[in-house]
Amino acid sequence: MENQRATWGSNFGFLMAAIGSAVGLGNIWGFPYKMGNSGGFAFLVVYLILAAIVGFTVLLIELSLGRRSRKGCIGAYYKLASAKFKWVGWLGGLSAFLIMSFYTVLGAYCLKYMMVNLGDIFSLSFGGGGTDGGKIFGALLTDQFTSWAYTAVFIIATGAVIMFGIDGGIEQFNKYAMPMLFVMLLIVIGRSVTLDGAEKGLAFMFMPNWEPLKNNFLGVLATASGQMFFSLSLGMAIMITYGSYLPKSENIEKNAAIIVISDTVVALLAGIAVLPAAFALGGENAALAGPKLLYITLQNVFNAMGAAGPYIGFIFYLLVVIAALSSSISLMETTVTFIIDSHESRQKIHNRKRITFWVCVAVLAEATIVALDGLGSNGMWVPGQSMFGVHTWNDCWLDFMDAWSEGFMMPLGAFLTCIFVGYEMKISTLADEVEQGGHKFVTRKFVEFCCKFAAPVILLFVLYNQLKDFGLLG
Ligand code: PHE
Repeated sequence: MENQRATWGSNFGFLMAAIGSAVGLGNIWGFPYKMGNSGGFAFLVVYLILAAIVGFTVLLIELSLGRRSRKGCIGAYYKLASAKFKWVGWLGGLSAFLIMSFYTVLGAYCLKYMMVNLGDIFSLSFGGGGTDGGKIFGALLTDQFTSWAYTAVFIIATGAVIMFGIDGGIEQFNKYAMPMLFVMLLIVIGRSVTLDGAEKGLAFMFMPNWEPLKNNFLGVLATASGQMFFSLSLGMAIMITYGSYLPKSENIEKNAAIIVISDTVVALLAGIAVLPAAFALGGENAALAGPKLLYITLQNVFNAMGAAGPYIGFIFYLLVVIAALSSSISLMETTVTFIIDSHESRQKIHNRKRITFWVCVAVLAEATIVALDGLGSNGMWVPGQSMFGVHTWNDCWLDFMDAWSEGFMMPLGAFLTCIFVGYEMKISTLADEVEQGGHKFVTRKFVEFCCKFAAPVILLFVLYNQLKDFGLLG
C-alpha cells in the first residue's frame, strides 16, 4: 500500500544515517573549539561522562519512542502521551525547523571554502590565492548574493536526497558518505599530527590537567553538556523520527551505544585533525580562539601549509560539507515525516517528492534571512535585541534562531521527555520496547536512574545556563 510506513533497508544503513545525523558541524567545529576555549583535557573528561550518562539514556529513549509509536516526533507524543505531555513533540519539531535556518547557512559557508581551496588547486579565479581567512570570511558575509546562492544549493542538495525516501535516499547517501568521511578525516589527521609543533596540540588535548575544573567547574559542565546534546542530535525530534523507521527486530540498546561511541570518536578525531595543526601553524592563540576556528583560523592554517595546503584544505572542507549535509538531511526529514504522518491520519495519500519540495521552499525562506544577515554584518534589523531594557542574546539572526531552538526548546523538550518517560509512560513500557525481538535490556537499572534523576537535573542546569548565556536572564 502507498501509505505503508517505510523501514531502513538494513541495520548498518540505519546506523550510518543516525551517525550521519549526529556527526556534523558540532563535532568538527564545535567540539574542537569548545575544547580549545573550555579547558582541553578537563573538558574532554566531563564530556565523556555526560555522553555516557545523559547522552546514551536520552538517545535510547528517543529511538524507543519513535519505534513504539511509528510516528515522527510530534505524532509520537500525540499517540503515547496524556494531555499533559501531548504538546512536547512540538518543542523538538519546531526546534529542528528553526535550526535549519542557520545550519544550512553554516554548511553553505563550508561549501564556499571548499570551492576556495579547489580554486587554489587549479589556480582558478575563485581560489583564495593565500588571502587571509579573516578577509575571505568578511567578504563572504557581506556578499549577500553569494551567501544566499550557496545556501540555496545546500538546501537543494538536502532535499534531493530526502526526495528518494528513507531507504532509497537517506540510507543510500549515508551508507557511502559516512565511510568516506572517516577516510578523509584520517588523511587530514595524517598531515596535522606530522607538522612541526603538533605535539603542543596533542598535549593540550590529552595531558591530564585539572586546573580548568578547579577554576570553573560549572562553566566547563555547562559548555560540555550543551555541546553533547547538540552533537548527538538530541531533543530535536530527529532520533524519534529515525527510530520510527526501525524494524522491531533490531537492538535499540546496542544501536544507541554504537551511535554515542561513534559520535564521540569522530569528535575526538576532529579535535586531533584540527587542534595540532592550529597549534603548529597558528600558535596557541589561534588554536584557542573559539568560533572563528572553522572559518578563519583553519583557512590560515591551510594557507601556511605550503603546496599541500589547498589539497588538505579541499579534503577537509569537503568532509565538513558531507558531515553538515547528513545532519541537515536529518533535520529536514523530521518536518517531512511530520507532514507525511499527518496525511496518514487524514487517510490521504502522501507524495513525498511534493512534500519535500515545499519543505525546501519553507526552509529557504527562513535561511534567506540568516544568509542575508551575514552574522549581523549587513546592518539588518534583528528582533528583540533588548527586552525590558536588558541587552539580550540577539546580535544577529543566527543568534536569534539559535537561542530559541538550541537554547530554549531543545533542553526543555529533552527535560520533559525524561519526565514523561520516567514518571508517566514508565520504564516498564520503555523496557517492553527495548526488549522487542528478544533482546535483553542490559542497562535497564542504569537508564532508569538516569531518566528519572540524573538527566533531568543536568538538563535543567543546561537550560538555565543557555538562558543565561543568551542573556535571557538579564
Ligand atoms: N548533531 C549535529 C552536529 O553535531 C547537528 C544537529 C543538531 C543535527 C541537531 C541535527 C539536529 O552538528
